[in-house]
Amino acid sequence: MTAFVHLIRALRIQAEICGQMGSPFNEGLLERIAFDLEAGGPSCRLFERWEATALRQLADDGVMIRVANTFNHLAMGGEAEALSAAWPRPGAPLDVDAAWVAARAAIRTHFEALSTFLDHEPQTNEVRRAGGLLGGFLTVAAETGLPLRCFEIGASAGLNLYWDRFRYEMGPVTWGDPAATVRVDADWQGAAPPLVPVEVIERAGCDRRPTDLTDPVQRRRLLACIWPDMFDRLARSRCAIDLALAEGVTVEAADALDWARSRVRPQAGAATVLFHSVFWQYLPQATQKGLAAAIAEIGASATPQAPFAWLRFEPPPTNLRIIEVWLTSWPGGAERRLATAHPHGASTIWLG
Ligand SMILES: C[S@@+](CC[C@H](N)C(=O)[O-])C[C@H]1O[C@@H](n2cnc3c(N)ncnc32)[C@H](O)[C@@H]1O
Repeated sequence: MTAFVHLIRALRIQAEICGQMGSPFNEGLLERIAFDLEAGGPSCRLFERWEATALRQLADDGVMIRVANTFNHLAMGGEAEALSAAWPRPGAPLDVDAAWVAARAAIRTHFEALSTFLDHEPQTNEVRRAGGLLGGFLTVAAETGLPLRCFEIGASAGLNLYWDRFRYEMGPVTWGDPAATVRVDADWQGAAPPLVPVEVIERAGCDRRPTDLTDPVQRRRLLACIWPDMFDRLARSRCAIDLALAEGVTVEAADALDWARSRVRPQAGAATVLFHSVFWQYLPQATQKGLAAAIAEIGASATPQAPFAWLRFEPPPTNLRIIEVWLTSWPGGAERRLATAHPHGASTIWLG
Protein backbone atom coordinates (compact mmCIF):
# COMPACT_ATOMS: atom_id res chain seq x y z
CA MET A 1 0.00 0.00 0.00
CA THR A 2 1.25 3.50 -0.86
CA ALA A 3 2.08 5.57 2.21
CA PHE A 4 -0.58 8.13 3.20
CA VAL A 5 -3.00 6.86 0.56
CA HIS A 6 -6.03 7.24 2.84
CA LEU A 7 -4.94 10.54 4.35
CA ILE A 8 -4.37 12.04 0.90
CA ARG A 9 -7.84 10.96 -0.17
CA ALA A 10 -9.39 12.19 3.07
CA LEU A 11 -7.70 15.58 2.74
CA ARG A 12 -9.03 15.97 -0.80
CA ILE A 13 -12.57 15.12 0.35
CA GLN A 14 -12.24 17.59 3.22
CA ALA A 15 -10.85 20.23 0.85
CA GLU A 16 -13.97 19.91 -1.27
CA ILE A 17 -16.21 20.18 1.81
CA CYS A 18 -14.37 23.31 2.97
CA GLY A 19 -14.82 24.84 -0.50
CA GLN A 20 -18.55 24.04 -0.50
CA MET A 21 -18.94 25.40 3.00
CA GLY A 22 -17.35 28.76 2.28
CA SER A 23 -13.63 28.39 2.98
CA PRO A 24 -11.65 28.59 -0.28
CA PHE A 25 -8.54 29.10 1.83
CA ASN A 26 -8.82 25.78 3.68
CA GLU A 27 -9.78 24.11 0.42
CA GLY A 28 -6.57 25.32 -1.20
CA LEU A 29 -4.43 24.62 1.85
CA LEU A 30 -5.62 21.03 2.20
CA GLU A 31 -5.12 20.39 -1.51
CA ARG A 32 -1.54 21.59 -1.22
CA ILE A 33 -0.89 19.43 1.85
CA ALA A 34 -2.30 16.40 0.00
CA PHE A 35 -0.02 17.13 -2.94
CA ASP A 36 2.97 17.57 -0.59
CA LEU A 37 2.27 14.15 0.97
CA GLU A 38 2.06 12.62 -2.48
CA ALA A 39 5.36 14.23 -3.45
CA GLY A 40 7.10 13.04 -0.25
CA GLY A 41 7.48 16.61 1.10
CA PRO A 42 7.94 17.76 4.73
CA SER A 43 4.27 17.05 5.55
CA CYS A 44 5.18 13.33 5.60
CA ARG A 45 7.18 13.75 8.80
CA LEU A 46 4.58 15.97 10.47
CA PHE A 47 1.68 13.62 9.71
CA GLU A 48 3.70 10.40 10.00
CA ARG A 49 1.42 8.99 12.73
CA TRP A 50 -1.41 8.68 10.16
CA GLU A 51 0.67 7.17 7.38
CA ALA A 52 -1.35 3.94 7.28
CA THR A 53 -4.56 4.93 9.08
CA ALA A 54 -7.79 3.87 7.36
CA LEU A 55 -10.25 6.44 6.01
CA ARG A 56 -12.97 5.68 8.56
CA GLN A 57 -10.59 6.10 11.48
CA LEU A 58 -9.24 9.36 10.04
CA ALA A 59 -12.78 10.71 9.87
CA ASP A 60 -13.69 9.45 13.36
CA ASP A 61 -10.62 11.13 14.85
CA GLY A 62 -11.20 14.42 13.00
CA VAL A 63 -7.74 14.17 11.49
CA MET A 64 -8.37 16.28 8.36
CA ILE A 65 -9.59 19.13 10.53
CA ARG A 66 -6.59 18.79 12.84
CA VAL A 67 -4.25 18.97 9.85
CA ALA A 68 -5.68 22.30 8.69
CA ASN A 69 -6.17 23.72 12.18
CA THR A 70 -2.62 23.17 13.38
CA PHE A 71 -1.30 25.77 10.91
CA ASN A 72 -4.14 28.13 11.80
CA HIS A 73 -3.34 27.73 15.49
CA LEU A 74 0.29 28.59 14.91
CA ALA A 75 -0.57 31.54 12.66
CA MET A 76 -2.89 32.97 15.33
CA GLY A 77 -0.02 33.51 17.77
CA GLY A 78 3.13 35.59 17.47
CA GLU A 79 5.56 32.65 17.33
CA ALA A 80 5.79 32.25 13.56
CA GLU A 81 5.82 35.74 12.10
CA ALA A 82 6.14 34.78 8.44
CA LEU A 83 3.19 32.40 8.74
CA SER A 84 1.05 34.99 10.55
CA ALA A 85 1.90 37.57 7.86
CA ALA A 86 0.86 35.23 5.05
CA TRP A 87 -2.38 34.12 6.75
CA PRO A 88 -5.84 35.43 5.70
CA ARG A 89 -6.70 38.89 6.97
CA PRO A 90 -9.97 40.82 6.57
CA GLY A 91 -9.74 43.14 3.58
CA ALA A 92 -6.61 41.52 2.11
CA PRO A 93 -6.79 39.23 -0.95
CA LEU A 94 -6.37 35.53 -0.16
CA ASP A 95 -3.03 34.12 -1.28
CA VAL A 96 -3.05 30.38 -0.58
CA ASP A 97 0.26 29.87 -2.38
CA ALA A 98 2.08 32.36 -0.14
CA ALA A 99 0.40 30.89 2.94
CA TRP A 100 1.41 27.36 1.95
CA VAL A 101 5.04 28.42 1.34
CA ALA A 102 5.09 29.86 4.90
CA ALA A 103 3.26 26.83 6.34
CA ARG A 104 5.65 24.39 4.65
CA ALA A 105 8.63 26.33 6.03
CA ALA A 106 7.03 26.31 9.50
CA ILE A 107 7.02 22.50 9.49
CA ARG A 108 10.81 22.75 9.79
CA THR A 109 11.02 25.79 12.11
CA HIS A 110 8.04 25.04 14.40
CA PHE A 111 7.76 21.26 14.17
CA GLU A 112 7.13 20.68 17.89
CA ALA A 113 4.33 23.26 18.15
CA LEU A 114 2.59 21.93 15.05
CA SER A 115 2.97 18.33 16.17
CA THR A 116 1.73 18.99 19.70
CA PHE A 117 -1.47 20.60 18.41
CA LEU A 118 -2.16 17.45 16.40
CA ASP A 119 -2.37 15.40 19.62
CA HIS A 120 -5.74 16.92 20.51
CA GLU A 121 -9.14 16.05 19.07
CA PRO A 122 -10.70 19.09 17.40
CA GLN A 123 -13.05 20.96 19.71
CA THR A 124 -15.52 23.35 18.10
CA ASN A 125 -18.38 25.49 19.33
CA GLU A 126 -20.31 27.05 16.47
CA VAL A 127 -22.40 30.03 17.57
CA ARG A 128 -24.50 30.36 14.42
CA ARG A 129 -26.06 26.95 15.07
CA ALA A 130 -28.15 28.85 17.62
CA GLY A 131 -29.93 30.34 14.59
CA GLY A 132 -31.11 26.86 13.61
CA LEU A 133 -32.16 26.04 17.17
CA LEU A 134 -33.95 29.35 17.77
CA GLY A 135 -37.17 28.30 16.02
CA GLY A 136 -37.36 25.24 18.27
CA PHE A 137 -37.00 27.22 21.47
CA LEU A 138 -39.59 29.75 20.26
CA THR A 139 -42.00 26.96 19.32
CA VAL A 140 -41.75 25.45 22.82
CA ALA A 141 -42.20 28.86 24.46
CA ALA A 142 -45.20 29.74 22.25
CA GLU A 143 -46.93 26.38 22.66
CA THR A 144 -46.46 26.08 26.41
CA GLY A 145 -46.67 29.76 27.37
CA LEU A 146 -44.05 28.99 30.03
CA PRO A 147 -40.52 30.18 30.80
CA LEU A 148 -37.76 27.80 29.66
CA ARG A 149 -35.17 25.71 31.47
CA CYS A 150 -32.44 24.90 28.91
CA PHE A 151 -30.07 21.94 29.23
CA GLU A 152 -27.41 21.35 26.60
CA ILE A 153 -25.48 18.11 26.14
CA GLY A 154 -22.20 18.17 24.18
CA ALA A 155 -22.06 21.90 24.96
CA SER A 156 -18.31 22.28 24.30
CA ALA A 157 -17.45 25.73 25.72
CA GLY A 158 -21.09 26.54 26.47
CA LEU A 159 -21.39 29.46 24.04
CA ASN A 160 -24.87 28.49 22.87
CA LEU A 161 -26.19 28.23 26.41
CA TYR A 162 -26.71 31.99 25.97
CA TRP A 163 -28.75 31.67 22.77
CA ASP A 164 -31.45 33.98 24.22
CA ARG A 165 -28.93 36.81 24.69
CA PHE A 166 -28.05 36.92 20.99
CA ARG A 167 -29.58 39.15 18.33
CA TYR A 168 -30.90 37.21 15.30
CA GLU A 169 -31.21 38.79 11.87
CA MET A 170 -32.35 35.98 9.57
CA GLY A 171 -34.64 37.31 6.85
CA PRO A 172 -38.16 37.40 8.31
CA VAL A 173 -36.79 36.23 11.65
CA THR A 174 -35.56 39.12 13.75
CA TRP A 175 -35.44 38.31 17.41
CA GLY A 176 -33.52 39.31 20.53
CA ASP A 177 -32.09 42.48 21.96
CA PRO A 178 -31.10 44.79 19.08
CA ALA A 179 -28.17 45.97 21.22
CA ALA A 180 -26.84 42.42 21.83
CA THR A 181 -23.11 42.03 21.12
CA VAL A 182 -23.53 38.57 19.58
CA ARG A 183 -25.23 38.89 16.19
CA VAL A 184 -26.49 35.82 14.38
CA ASP A 185 -27.18 36.64 10.75
CA ALA A 186 -28.13 33.85 8.38
CA ASP A 187 -30.24 33.10 5.33
CA TRP A 188 -33.79 31.99 6.05
CA GLN A 189 -36.33 30.37 3.75
CA GLY A 190 -39.95 29.72 4.60
CA ALA A 191 -42.26 31.25 7.16
CA ALA A 192 -41.05 32.54 10.51
CA PRO A 193 -41.50 30.57 13.72
CA PRO A 194 -43.61 32.28 16.42
CA LEU A 195 -41.52 35.33 17.37
CA VAL A 196 -42.57 35.40 21.02
CA PRO A 197 -40.58 36.77 23.95
CA VAL A 198 -38.82 34.05 25.95
CA GLU A 199 -37.65 33.97 29.53
CA VAL A 200 -34.89 31.47 30.32
CA ILE A 201 -34.97 30.81 34.06
CA GLU A 202 -32.31 28.09 34.20
CA ARG A 203 -29.48 26.99 31.92
CA ALA A 204 -26.87 24.26 32.29
CA GLY A 205 -24.61 22.24 30.03
CA CYS A 206 -22.28 19.28 30.02
CA ASP A 207 -19.51 18.00 27.80
CA ARG A 208 -17.25 15.00 28.16
CA ARG A 209 -14.34 17.40 27.50
CA PRO A 210 -15.49 20.99 28.08
CA THR A 211 -13.39 23.88 26.85
CA ASP A 212 -12.48 26.12 29.77
CA LEU A 213 -12.79 29.63 28.38
CA THR A 214 -10.92 31.14 31.32
CA ASP A 215 -7.78 29.34 30.10
CA PRO A 216 -6.15 31.33 27.24
CA VAL A 217 -4.54 28.15 25.87
CA GLN A 218 -7.90 26.43 25.53
CA ARG A 219 -9.50 29.60 24.15
CA ARG A 220 -6.87 29.81 21.42
CA ARG A 221 -7.36 26.15 20.57
CA LEU A 222 -11.10 26.68 20.24
CA LEU A 223 -10.70 29.70 17.95
CA ALA A 224 -8.12 27.82 15.86
CA CYS A 225 -10.91 25.45 14.79
CA ILE A 226 -12.62 28.27 12.90
CA TRP A 227 -11.55 28.25 9.27
CA PRO A 228 -9.20 31.21 8.87
CA ASP A 229 -10.92 33.00 5.98
CA MET A 230 -14.34 32.90 7.72
CA PHE A 231 -13.87 36.21 9.52
CA ASP A 232 -17.52 36.61 10.50
CA ARG A 233 -17.51 33.28 12.37
CA LEU A 234 -14.35 34.29 14.18
CA ALA A 235 -15.71 37.70 15.18
CA ARG A 236 -19.02 36.19 16.34
CA SER A 237 -17.22 33.56 18.41
CA ARG A 238 -15.05 36.19 20.08
CA CYS A 239 -18.17 38.16 21.08
CA ALA A 240 -19.86 34.98 22.33
CA ILE A 241 -16.78 34.08 24.39
CA ASP A 242 -16.83 37.54 26.00
CA LEU A 243 -20.52 37.13 26.80
CA ALA A 244 -20.07 33.63 28.24
CA LEU A 245 -17.13 34.77 30.38
CA ALA A 246 -19.08 37.78 31.63
CA GLU A 247 -21.95 35.45 32.56
CA GLY A 248 -19.57 33.08 34.38
CA VAL A 249 -20.28 30.15 32.07
CA THR A 250 -19.77 26.66 33.44
CA VAL A 251 -20.00 23.46 31.46
CA GLU A 252 -19.93 20.38 33.63
CA ALA A 253 -17.42 17.69 32.66
CA ALA A 254 -19.68 14.67 32.31
CA ASP A 255 -20.88 12.05 29.90
CA ALA A 256 -24.16 13.16 28.36
CA LEU A 257 -26.02 9.99 29.29
CA ASP A 258 -25.10 10.11 32.99
CA TRP A 259 -25.73 13.85 33.12
CA ALA A 260 -29.12 13.74 31.42
CA ARG A 261 -30.23 10.96 33.76
CA SER A 262 -29.10 12.70 36.90
CA ARG A 263 -29.66 16.37 36.06
CA VAL A 264 -32.66 16.74 33.75
CA ARG A 265 -36.18 16.47 35.17
CA PRO A 266 -39.36 18.31 34.18
CA GLN A 267 -40.38 20.94 36.70
CA ALA A 268 -43.79 22.52 37.21
CA GLY A 269 -44.11 26.12 36.03
CA ALA A 270 -41.48 25.88 33.29
CA ALA A 271 -40.86 24.06 30.02
CA THR A 272 -37.69 21.97 30.27
CA VAL A 273 -35.72 21.71 27.01
CA LEU A 274 -32.88 19.27 26.42
CA PHE A 275 -30.95 20.32 23.33
CA HIS A 276 -27.85 19.47 21.35
CA SER A 277 -26.13 20.29 18.07
CA VAL A 278 -23.67 18.28 15.97
CA PHE A 279 -23.07 15.92 18.87
CA TRP A 280 -25.09 12.75 18.30
CA GLN A 281 -22.78 11.40 15.58
CA TYR A 282 -19.88 11.26 18.05
CA LEU A 283 -21.67 8.84 20.38
CA PRO A 284 -21.14 5.09 20.17
CA GLN A 285 -24.33 3.32 19.09
CA ALA A 286 -24.93 1.91 22.57
CA THR A 287 -24.78 5.43 24.07
CA GLN A 288 -27.16 6.75 21.40
CA LYS A 289 -29.64 4.02 22.32
CA GLY A 290 -29.19 4.61 26.05
CA LEU A 291 -29.61 8.35 25.67
CA ALA A 292 -32.71 8.05 23.51
CA ALA A 293 -34.22 5.72 26.12
CA ALA A 294 -33.25 8.08 28.97
CA ILE A 295 -34.82 11.01 27.13
CA ALA A 296 -38.03 9.05 26.52
CA GLU A 297 -38.09 8.24 30.23
CA ILE A 298 -37.72 11.91 31.17
CA GLY A 299 -40.48 12.68 28.65
CA ALA A 300 -42.77 10.10 30.23
CA SER A 301 -42.61 12.00 33.52
CA ALA A 302 -43.71 15.29 31.88
CA THR A 303 -47.15 16.80 32.56
CA PRO A 304 -49.03 19.77 31.05
CA GLN A 305 -47.76 21.87 34.00
CA ALA A 306 -44.22 20.48 33.62
CA PRO A 307 -43.68 19.89 29.89
CA PHE A 308 -40.47 18.58 28.37
CA ALA A 309 -38.97 18.98 24.90
CA TRP A 310 -36.03 17.41 23.07
CA LEU A 311 -34.59 19.78 20.46
CA ARG A 312 -31.76 18.76 18.18
CA PHE A 313 -29.74 20.20 15.31
CA GLU A 314 -28.10 17.11 13.85
CA PRO A 315 -27.31 15.48 10.51
CA PRO A 316 -29.40 12.46 9.55
CA PRO A 317 -27.26 9.30 9.92
CA THR A 318 -27.15 8.77 6.16
CA ASN A 319 -25.86 12.25 5.18
CA LEU A 320 -23.51 14.08 7.51
CA ARG A 321 -23.38 17.10 5.21
CA ILE A 322 -26.87 18.38 5.97
CA ILE A 323 -28.69 19.20 9.18
CA GLU A 324 -32.21 18.53 10.34
CA VAL A 325 -33.80 20.28 13.30
CA TRP A 326 -36.20 18.01 15.16
CA LEU A 327 -38.43 18.68 18.15
CA THR A 328 -40.12 16.07 20.31
CA SER A 329 -42.61 17.38 22.87
CA TRP A 330 -44.03 15.74 25.98
CA PRO A 331 -46.57 14.96 27.31
CA GLY A 332 -47.42 12.90 24.27
CA GLY A 333 -44.03 12.58 22.58
CA ALA A 334 -45.15 14.20 19.30
CA GLU A 335 -42.19 14.47 16.95
CA ARG A 336 -41.73 17.18 14.27
CA ARG A 337 -39.05 18.05 11.76
CA LEU A 338 -38.92 21.82 12.12
CA ALA A 339 -36.19 22.74 9.65
CA THR A 340 -33.23 21.77 7.57
CA ALA A 341 -30.07 23.83 7.89
CA HIS A 342 -26.48 24.41 6.87
CA PRO A 343 -24.09 22.57 9.23
CA HIS A 344 -22.64 25.85 10.54
CA GLY A 345 -26.08 27.50 10.68
CA ALA A 346 -25.41 29.78 7.68
CA SER A 347 -28.92 29.05 6.36
CA THR A 348 -32.17 27.55 7.57
CA ILE A 349 -35.17 26.26 5.66
CA TRP A 350 -38.09 26.43 8.07
CA LEU A 351 -40.68 23.66 7.71
CA GLY A 352 -42.26 24.10 11.17
C1 LIG B 1 -18.68 18.91 17.16
S1 LIG B 1 -18.74 19.37 18.84
C2 LIG B 1 -20.18 20.39 18.84
C3 LIG B 1 -20.21 21.32 20.01
C4 LIG B 1 -21.43 22.21 20.11
N1 LIG B 1 -22.62 21.42 20.41
C5 LIG B 1 -21.63 23.00 18.84
O1 LIG B 1 -22.58 22.73 18.09
O2 LIG B 1 -20.85 23.90 18.59
C6 LIG B 1 -19.28 17.87 19.65
C7 LIG B 1 -19.16 17.96 21.15
O3 LIG B 1 -19.73 16.78 21.73
C8 LIG B 1 -18.94 16.42 22.86
N2 LIG B 1 -19.22 15.01 23.19
C9 LIG B 1 -18.98 13.92 22.42
N3 LIG B 1 -19.38 12.80 23.06
C10 LIG B 1 -19.89 13.19 24.25
C11 LIG B 1 -20.46 12.50 25.35
N4 LIG B 1 -20.59 11.17 25.36
N5 LIG B 1 -20.89 13.23 26.40
C12 LIG B 1 -20.76 14.56 26.42
N6 LIG B 1 -20.21 15.27 25.41
C13 LIG B 1 -19.78 14.61 24.33
C14 LIG B 1 -17.53 16.70 22.39
O4 LIG B 1 -16.61 16.78 23.46
C15 LIG B 1 -17.73 18.03 21.65
O5 LIG B 1 -17.57 19.12 22.49
